[in-house]
Amino acid sequence: MADTAQATGAYTASADFIAKAHIDAAGYERMYAASVADPDAFWREEGQRIDWIKDYATVKNSTFEYGKVSIKWFEDGTLNVSANCIDRHMATRANQTAIIWEPDDPKVPALHISYAQLLEQTCRMANVLKAHGVQKGDRVVLYLPMIPEAAYAMLACARIGAIHSVVFGGFSPDALANRINDSEAKVVITADFAPRGGKKTALKSNTDQALLHCKDSVKCLVVKHTGDQTHWTEGRDFDVKAEMAAAKPYCAYTEVGAEDPLFILYTSGSTGKPKGVVHTSGGYLVYASMTHKYTFDYHDGDVFWCTADVGWVTGHSYIVYGPLANGATTIMFEGVPTYPDAGRFWEVCAKHKVTQFYTAPTAIRSLMGMGTEWVEKHDLSSLRLLGTVGEPINPEAWNWYNVNVGKGRCPIVDTFWQTETGGHLITPLPGAIPQKPGSATKPFFGIKPVVLDPANAALQTAVEADGVLCITDSWPGMMRTLWGDHARFEEAYFSQYRGYYFTGDGCRRDGDGYYWITGRVDDVINVSGHRMGTAEVESALVAHAQVAEAAVVGYPHDIKGQGIYAYVTLMRGVEPTEALRKELEAWVRTEIGPIAKPDLIQWAPGLPKTRSGKIMRRILRKIAENDFGALGDTSTLADPSVVDDLIANRMNKA
Ligand code: WT7
Repeated sequence: MADTAQATGAYTASADFIAKAHIDAAGYERMYAASVADPDAFWREEGQRIDWIKDYATVKNSTFEYGKVSIKWFEDGTLNVSANCIDRHMATRANQTAIIWEPDDPKVPALHISYAQLLEQTCRMANVLKAHGVQKGDRVVLYLPMIPEAAYAMLACARIGAIHSVVFGGFSPDALANRINDSEAKVVITADFAPRGGKKTALKSNTDQALLHCKDSVKCLVVKHTGDQTHWTEGRDFDVKAEMAAAKPYCAYTEVGAEDPLFILYTSGSTGKPKGVVHTSGGYLVYASMTHKYTFDYHDGDVFWCTADVGWVTGHSYIVYGPLANGATTIMFEGVPTYPDAGRFWEVCAKHKVTQFYTAPTAIRSLMGMGTEWVEKHDLSSLRLLGTVGEPINPEAWNWYNVNVGKGRCPIVDTFWQTETGGHLITPLPGAIPQKPGSATKPFFGIKPVVLDPANAALQTAVEADGVLCITDSWPGMMRTLWGDHARFEEAYFSQYRGYYFTGDGCRRDGDGYYWITGRVDDVINVSGHRMGTAEVESALVAHAQVAEAAVVGYPHDIKGQGIYAYVTLMRGVEPTEALRKELEAWVRTEIGPIAKPDLIQWAPGLPKTRSGKIMRRILRKIAENDFGALGDTSTLADPSVVDDLIANRMNKA
């Protein structure tokens, strides 16, 4: 295999960056080799980067064998995650800023929350939860804006051993209700409104609607954030800020097992309802803190900014758990990149002297279109490293980011990972691995990727390979199961390629051993770095009284990466009108949330089906991509003429 330090056509970090980096090229090779040769010895040592109440004797205990899949790390150790993220820093960092909160409205002052303040607020929140009967193992759903209370609530759950499930504020009441019910949560914590980009989402009112479909016993703790009036149900709704102010300022932390769940995070799959991905405490924290330190080359005194929302795993691992476990200063941003103008990201970087900046390619692409003057206005000299996540980054966006934001002196880490993986799987380590625009480069420590032939599951042994990406063995940060459905867990991730964890992604490995993720190979689409199951959008559409049938596929979209393209067959006698199209868009927004709204809806008198009734999605994808010259074999279609109609009336003629 070619030496990483000399990968062809690659960008190497500056000598200055490399000199200060935690890990250099030789260090990566040595540590990586050690991590895969003897995972037990490697992780026994790495596990010590966090504090244990009772140290572990056993390190790794896992099998990917279908039917018996079981993943345990540090299983006889005990710890508390909030103590690791807060208390253990108190001796040295009590007055250091833990979280910088940057509000949506730049005229509102930012908050600098010290570790001492974080401890107090987390404890107060923990005491409030306890007073409402939340105990170890209970589930708490968080449906919150990007406000400090979101971090307090996550850490408060961790403190008392409760399991949080954060639901992104952009999800609908229905989606929220499903998550509250599936996780059987006792409490939901929300806020009156969520300001974003100068608009306000009515979180409390959404929660009121959701709770109509939940058990009466579910309590609702409301953060009065904007102060706007909301409907109030006496006996069910509680003012959480008032209760925190009245609560005791300290709460002892609960000892939990390494394998006790820390959180559930729902994510879209290729079939059925969203999957409740379960992450546990010990291994997850070891992995989040280690990847945060090395991928971003985090050093004391740095100011780290991950622009994600805490409703996604990126926010869990790289706004809250990873940075705080490392005693870092982490930014929590309530707003959007384009409010009040397209310079907001760069204004915040300059204002808080951000050293590492981590965002999604879709954000870069949308800012790219607005011109470089928005970047040039602001002093970005504090930046040392840039990162991306969520989807492959196209070379144009990479170059724009590199030249205009990084000024050619900041390594760009393109981090490939998933909700399921807890932390980075494939990523450059910035001082060690030269970057190639569009490649996530090399595996992180302990990750053994393989490329398999999708046709016959054959292992591709040559360095250069094409196929699907699987992982050979477990690592501490990976999910352990799906909430309440271990059989579905095995089915979704371990059944198709026996003995491996299947990522769902296609990939190419080049002659330098670099990995290039080519996108999902299942029926999941990636919209602005957010995962959407086509089946979910389809079932929302067919729930509409006038829709007989729907098929949803992705198509290339300049800004979002992929857009949502829906083929809709209406009930007999229903007229396809513009008004109905708008109504269906709104319908999906309320069924799932704004992120699921179809970009294009095509009225389809029929869908291409095989004689056994299976929809031929391959054909629908081609038509949506405006690439219908080579539709392949259509001879197995029950009625080939439907294809001509679909082509003639296709929506994406660009
Ligand atoms: C899917 C996971 C945890 C990251 C946020 C999204 C795609 C993610 C990359 C990347 C190419 C990427 C994959 C993956 N993806 N990062 N750097 N390059 N593709 O998490 O919602 O669980 O989605 O996002 O397709 O499977 P997610």
